[in-house]
Amino acid sequence: MWFTRSLAVCLLVVSGVSSSSSSSTPSATPAQTKRYAILDNDWGAVSFIPILLALKGDMEILGLASNTANTWQRQSAHHALANLELANLTCIPVLPGSTHPLLHTPHRFHTWEALHGALPWQGAFAPESQDGNDPTSGDPDRLVREAFIEGFPRGSIDESRSAASFMVDMVRRYPGQVSIYSAGALTNVALAARLDSKFAENARELVVMGGYVDVNMLQVVGDVELANVNSDINLMIDPESAKIALTAPFPEILIAGNVANQIPSTQAFLDEVHEVRNPLTRLFHDHYGTEFPFWDETAAAVMVDRGVVLNTTTAYIDVDVAFGSPNYGNIHVYQKALMPPGLRNVTYVHRVDGERIKGMMKEAMQNPPSC
Ligand SMILES: *[C@@H]1O[C@H](CO)[C@@H](O)[C@H](O)[C@H]1NC(C)=O
Ligand SMILES: *[C@@H]1O[C@H](CO)[C@@H](O)[C@H](O)[C@H]1NC(C)=O
Ligand SMILES: *[C@@H]1O[C@H](CO)[C@@H](O)[C@H](O)[C@H]1NC(C)=O
Repeated sequence: MWFTRSLAVCLLVVSGVSSSSSSSTPSATPAQTKRYAILDNDWGAVSFIPILLALKGDMEILGLASNTANTWQRQSAHHALANLELANLTCIPVLPGSTHPLLHTPHRFHTWEALHGALPWQGAFAPESQDGNDPTSGDPDRLVREAFIEGFPRGSIDESRSAASFMVDMVRRYPGQVSIYSAGALTNVALAARLDSKFAENARELVVMGGYVDVNMLQVVGDVELANVNSDINLMIDPESAKIALTAPFPEILIAGNVANQIPSTQAFLDEVHEVRNPLTRLFHDHYGTEFPFWDETAAAVMVDRGVVLNTTTAYIDVDVAFGSPNYGNIHVYQKALMPPGLRNVTYVHRVDGERIKGMMKEAMQNPPSC
């Protein structure tokens, strides 16, 4: 995988040299190579920060993809658009992702829960929401307008192109330069990897929010909320896709699992960001809340600036896809000498510089980027 990529870089350099006598533009050196990103998420009402972080980090965002994890894909795509409208960033397109996981359905998920125990947060598979929250179960295509506290989007989603085919096309256009960021289910990433067998190796990297390891005890020693923040809904909503994506030959896979719980949201930080008043700091201050850590933001910061990462382990990784297992949809890590065949190594992030990430978030919201 690395070999393929460095070979591609060599070829680029060679072609740059050989064409230097002609009028074509010389290739950039790897350090100057422009970085692109596709951000795939189960977008919610206050989910613009990863977008701002990527733009502030000099990445060009090719598009936002929607997936089904916390809520159904269609609602999530509209939240993506609403967040872009609020941030005046509608130059970025929203690509509708797959509404359904590869195999999983609410019924199948509840059958699994009956066998193995309930999850505190069941994402889109939770019993049908009735109270103005993002939709769960029921009709996957319905939009719940009351849940758009950021404002219902004025524009509409272009349904003519799917997120997976967009990912494939963009990686073909910019080989070695596109970071795929996944902070929800991995359905679209798996579909792209299956559509084009060169997709993963020609991307730059896959950065994932999710993939907790050894958190079972944390589901017991505290309250249901502690169990909640240690459950892996992003992978569990579509275990088969998670396995396909996390074993695909991306040059690098970065996992922000347990570490995503490292930076708690605090009232003091919400207030500090709101010292500068704009629509983004207001929405963040009034509606982000202090219940959940900065999950998606941590993964985005890791993608943008590897300097925030303080400690990592290289691990070979698999996803449990046995329906009869209590760990269905959770990851298992191996060292090379002991792993089964077919796995690949990932960079498992253990510790990040929380103050630096909060500094990046604050700057991005107080001084937001434009199109
Ligand atoms: C977006 O543009 C509107 C209209 O110009 C402006 O009032 C608003 O503050 C802008 N939002 C941000 C986040 O800059
Ligand atoms: C990195 O994190 C791992 C897992 O938490 C820990 O065992 C190890 O001691 C850490 N290493 C450093 C240098 O902090
Ligand atoms: C990860 O796997 C790649 C490809 O097999 C290999 O080149 C690289 O050395 C591995 N990294 C580590 C740290 O083991």
